[in-house]
Amino acid sequence: MTSMIRRLSRTKPTEEIVAEGGHGEGGELRRTMTLWQLTLFSVGATLGTGIFVILGQAVPKAGPAVVVAFLLAAVTALFSALSYAELAGTIPVAGSSYSYAYATLGELVAWVCGWCLMLEYAVSVAAVAVGWGEYLNSFLGDLFGWTLPAALTNSPGQQGGVINLTAILIVVLATWLLLRGASESAGANAVFVLIKIVVLVFFCVVAFTAFEAGNLTPFAPLGVAGITAAASQVFFSYIGFDAASTAGEEAKNPKRDLPLAIMLSLGVVTLVYVLVALAAVGAMPWQEFDPESTEAGLSLIAKQASGATWPGLVISFGAAIAIASVVLTVLYGQTRILFAMSRDGLIPKVFAKVSARRQVPVANTLIVAAFVSVLAGFIPLGQLAEATSIGTLFAFAIVNLGVLVLRRTRPDLPRSFRTPLFPLTPILGVIFCIVVMAGLAGVTWLAFGIWMAVGLLAYFLYGYRHSRLNRSDR
Ligand code: ALA
Repeated sequence: MTSMIRRLSRTKPTEEIVAEGGHGEGGELRRTMTLWQLTLFSVGATLGTGIFVILGQAVPKAGPAVVVAFLLAAVTALFSALSYAELAGTIPVAGSSYSYAYATLGELVAWVCGWCLMLEYAVSVAAVAVGWGEYLNSFLGDLFGWTLPAALTNSPGQQGGVINLTAILIVVLATWLLLRGASESAGANAVFVLIKIVVLVFFCVVAFTAFEAGNLTPFAPLGVAGITAAASQVFFSYIGFDAASTAGEEAKNPKRDLPLAIMLSLGVVTLVYVLVALAAVGAMPWQEFDPESTEAGLSLIAKQASGATWPGLVISFGAAIAIASVVLTVLYGQTRILFAMSRDGLIPKVFAKVSARRQVPVANTLIVAAFVSVLAGFIPLGQLAEATSIGTLFAFAIVNLGVLVLRRTRPDLPRSFRTPLFPLTPILGVIFCIVVMAGLAGVTWLAFGIWMAVGLLAYFLYGYRHSRLNRSDR
């Protein structure tokens, strides 16, 4: 029993984790990504459905004070972002919080964290891909007056759905880009991100022309409770700022650039979100926002504000591009996390195989793409998408704890970034994560519990026995 507890809580030495960086089975990853590309990678993974759709659904909860809800969610994300920045600068590898947990809290917690990250990455990317067809259709409808049939854009179980082919299509396109190489993917992502930012700025310009100060009063019709409920909901829109931390083994100068990319991306998305939210509630009375609306909320506002169709068209186009870049970057992140877990022996070796020619984990990328395609093509993911937030918050809490532990156990390690006001910030980070998690629905907790039970079973059946730490059992 004591030996089992020892095995479950064994940590992997930080120096060993860092020394393995870049090495896979049969090939090496290539260090090509610059600070600019890393920042856009995180922005690419973050700016997506949250601002294009969820904003519209959150306004009825908070009224014009949805702007404050976005700021509150940003503060929650900020504490964890500081912790991510510190650990990404200290342990710049592909596994992100999974690797940080392995270095600080032990193998079992690391596994649990890696399993949670699958909710943040693979499951969320499937959920996001499912919605892509809607934007494509909204765009096609506005442009040609013609849309794809529901049989091909909805999953079975949704209205008229047979197979969500558009979801599969976007996953296949992203996979094709990823197989071309990390640098090529980062290049394409940079273009996507610039387009979506330009489209959001365009939205602000259109909406501000219809701005009426009267729309902002009363500012918080549903009080503080409304604001916090909306903040829990829009927290989803900040998920992804940590994506750069999965590129630790492909960054040119990871120790300097990863912390900067994480903080910069959070700054950029917060600014964009607050401006867009302010423009939206200034342009349309808050009572007119429909919580059930699945149409890209911003597209509707742009149409109403301008009295013309074409601004709506531009917004639908931006939303389709925005989601494509979330799919690309988040899919990338998932492959790199599995890569790190496989190198540690916790999942099969095939995930750590790197093609010597392309310098990307080809088999890993194809397996992840197939898994995500099946999820996205055949399962309506509404419920599971909510579980994304809980899994992410759990991983964030572990990262905050990791900072507290590593400062105590390894004060000697060189750190390129130190979170300010230590230990207050990581402690607040944990508390904020718990508060937002507590606000999530009971059914989400149930889904999370089932997911965790399956994960623990998988660990004891495979990872526990195949862990590379067994070889040198310490
Ligand atoms: N933050 C990502 C989005 O809003 C998940 O789409």
